[in-house]
Amino acid sequence: MHEIIEQLDQKRELARLGGGQKRIDAQHKKGKLTARERIELLLDDGTFEEWDMFKEHRCSDFGMGETKIPSDGVVTGYGTINGRMVFVFSQDFTVFGGALSEAHAEKICKIMDKAIQVGAPVIGLNDSGGARIQEGVAALGGYADVFQRNVMASGVIPQISLIMGPCAGGAVYSPAMTDFIFMVKDTSYMFVTGPEVVKTVTHEEVTAEELGGAVTHTSKSGVADLAFENDVDALLMLRRFVNYLPLNNKEKAPIRPTPDPADRLDYSLDTLVPDNTNKPYDIKELIIKTVDDCDFFELQPDHARNIIIGFARMEGQTIGIVANQPMVLAGCLDIKSSIKAARFVRFCDAYNIPIITFVDVPGFMPGTAQEYGGIIKHGAKLLYAYAECTVPKITVITRKAYGGAYDVMASKHLRGDVNFAWPSAEIAVMGPKGAVEIIFREDKGDPAKLAAKEAEYKAKFANPFVAGARGFIDDVIQPHETRKRICRSLVMLRNKKIDNPWRKHGNIPL
Ligand code: HXC
Repeated sequence: MHEIIEQLDQKRELARLGGGQKRIDAQHKKGKLTARERIELLLDDGTFEEWDMFKEHRCSDFGMGETKIPSDGVVTGYGTINGRMVFVFSQDFTVFGGALSEAHAEKICKIMDKAIQVGAPVIGLNDSGGARIQEGVAALGGYADVFQRNVMASGVIPQISLIMGPCAGGAVYSPAMTDFIFMVKDTSYMFVTGPEVVKTVTHEEVTAEELGGAVTHTSKSGVADLAFENDVDALLMLRRFVNYLPLNNKEKAPIRPTPDPADRLDYSLDTLVPDNTNKPYDIKELIIKTVDDCDFFELQPDHARNIIIGFARMEGQTIGIVANQPMVLAGCLDIKSSIKAARFVRFCDAYNIPIITFVDVPGFMPGTAQEYGGIIKHGAKLLYAYAECTVPKITVITRKAYGGAYDVMASKHLRGDVNFAWPSAEIAVMGPKGAVEIIFREDKGDPAKLAAKEAEYKAKFANPFVAGARGFIDDVIQPHETRKRICRSLVMLRNKKIDNPWRKHGNIPL
C-alpha cells in the first residue's frame, strides 16, 4: 500500500511539472505564471479540486506516442471565489504550447457539462496555440465539442475568458462565445491567424501586438472587455469581477452590504449639466456619485467611448449601467457603441441584473461611413436588446434625448419601468436648430426669423414637460436626489415579473 501511495505522489509530481522545468522557467521569464499557479491565485486558498490530472492524449502520429504528458496541457476542476462555486480550466503553455488535443477538449467539456448541471460559472484561463497540429481533425472535433457547450451554457451560467498568452485559431473562437474576455498586457494575443500567415496571405507586415495584443482588442476591435497589467493583477481583478455576478440564470447576484445610505443626496449634481447645451460634461461623474461607495466596474472603457457600460451596486444589489457619454462624439449612438451596449444589456437581462440607463444622446451618428457600415442594422441591435429585456429598467434623462435614440435608450415605450428626467432634459425629435432649419426652410435667408423660431421651438420642446404630460416620463427629479429615487425604484421593482411570448428564439438583427 505504501508503495502505491508513493507512486501516486510521483505521478502527481510528474503531472505538476507539465512540459518540464525548462519550459516552466521560460514561462516565468516571460512574466507569466504557470497554469497551476494561476488557479492558486484565482481561487480561495485550498479549495481547488482537480479532475483528470492523469489524462493523456491518444495520438501516435509524428512521434507523439513517446510524448505523453499527464494532464495533457490543461488543468481542470472547481473551487470557490469568496466562498462561491466556480469551475475553471487553465491551459498549460509548457505542454505543446497549450494546444488543444481531443483529450484536452474532453477535460474542458467535462467541467463545462458539470457547471451547467450544478449552475456555476466557468472561467477559462487561456494560453494556447489552438488546435494541436499533430492530431488534425481529432483536435478540430474537440474544439467543436467545446464550442457547442459554450453555446449551451450561454445565458445559463456566466462564462468568462482570461487570455493569458498567445492564443490562435480555435483558442480565440471559444472565448469569443463567452460573456466576457479579459486580457493581460504585453503577454497575451488573440488572432485567428498569426502575423506570419497574415504576411503570406494579405502581404501586410504587422506585429503580434498590433494584430492581436491587449491594446488592439480593448480599443480597436472591442473583442476584449479589459486589459490588465500582469497575471497577478488580472487574476485578482477577476476575483473582484465575479462578485458582481450571479452563479446562474436562476439566481440573483449576491448582495454586498454597504454603509452608503440609499437616501444620500449629492448637491454637486445640480450643476453637472452646463448651461450651454452644446457643452460636454463627464457622465461618469453622475455614475460615480450615484452608485454605492462610488464603486463602478467599467467594461470596455477604451472602445466606443461614446457609451459607457459596467457594473455597480445600489443598496448592495448588482446593477448594470449604460450611459451616453457627452464627452465623446457628443454621446451619439454609432455602430460600435450600439453593439457594445446591446451585448451588455442582453447579459444583464439573461442574469437578472437590473439596468440603469443614463441618457444624454443627440441621436444616431449620420454619414456615409455609418450608413455603409450598417448603422441601421447595428443600431437596431440596441433597440432590440432593450425591447426584449424583462429585468427592471430605470432610465434617467439628464439632457438630450433626441429622435430615434430617445426611443432606443430604455424609453417608456420599450417597457422602461421607471423613467425619470432632470429639469435640464430636452426630449424632442431633434435639436432646436436642426428642427427649425427643416420646418422653416423657406426662411433660410432670414436669420432673425429663424432665430425667433428656434427660440420658440426650444421653449416648447426643449424640456421634460411635454413628455411628462403624456406620461412618457414618470417624474421630473432634482439631480441631487438621483440616487435616492433610483434606490426606491429598485426596491419597488424587486419582485418584477414579466414574460415575453413563447418562441424558439427571437431573431435579433445580427
Ligand atoms: C502543437 C504547438 C502548437 C499547436 C505551439 N505549439 N502551437 N504544438 N500544436 N497548435 C508548440 C510549439 O511547437 C512549441 O513546442 C511550443 O508549443 C511553444 O511554441 P513556440 O512557437 O515556441 O512559442 P511562441 O514563440 O511563444 O509562439 C506561440 C504561438 C505559435 C504564437 C502560439 O506557437 C504558433 O503560431 N502556433 C501555431 C498556431 C496555429 O496556427 N494553431 C492552429 C490554429 S488552427 P516546443 O516543443 O518547442 O516547446 C485551429 C483550428 C480550430 O485552431 C478552428 C476552429 C474554428
